[in-house]
Amino acid sequence: MAFIHAIAHIELNAIDLAWDIIARFTNEALPKLFYDDWVQVALDEAEHFNLLSERLSELGGAYGDLPAHNGLWEAAVTTNDDLLARLAIVPMTLEARGLDTTPGAVSKLRQAGDAQSADILQRIGSEEIPHVRAGVRWFETLCEGRGIDPVTSYHEFIRTRFQGSLKPPFNEEARAQAGMTIEYYARYGDKPA
Ligand SMILES: [Fe+2]
Ligand SMILES: [Fe+2]
Repeated sequence: MAFIHAIAHIELNAIDLAWDIIARFTNEALPKLFYDDWVQVALDEAEHFNLLSERLSELGGAYGDLPAHNGLWEAAVTTNDDLLARLAIVPMTLEARGLDTTPGAVSKLRQAGDAQSADILQRIGSEEIPHVRAGVRWFETLCEGRGIDPVTSYHEFIRTRFQGSLKPPFNEEARAQAGMTIEYYARYGDKPA
């Protein structure tokens, strides 16, 4: 129940983050497709929150019963001045981290006999792939527009805007489906960059 509550909190923050990326970066000339992508993300995140909220009530609880950390929203604040930094840290790092941790969480829930929560998390995990994909796509589009190398500038953002480092294990399959090539994260893992 504490675990489901923590994920529900992440999804609630993710709704706010999707609307924030839509509303905040009005200094950039962005095509309608950019906004379409993040409206879809906001809709997905709202569905994820509802799925977890319903699961919490089946387990006899509700969102708000437990304290929650503010890490995700802090990432929004530290990247509120630059859309490239926001894309690098939120979808391409924090949401990509979700892709890495989901398979382990799903199997733990199954082992604990909570198949319903496991199914919800599995569905959420697969629906997060397009969110990371949208992050990579717009990050690369903007880098191209600025004439900078995406992989180099991603590493620069990890160094300057991210607390800590990228940690393996990486879900290479899900990251590949999201269009995130290994150059983005290989140097942080066991494999040579
Ligand atoms: Fe989500
Ligand atoms: Fe997401």
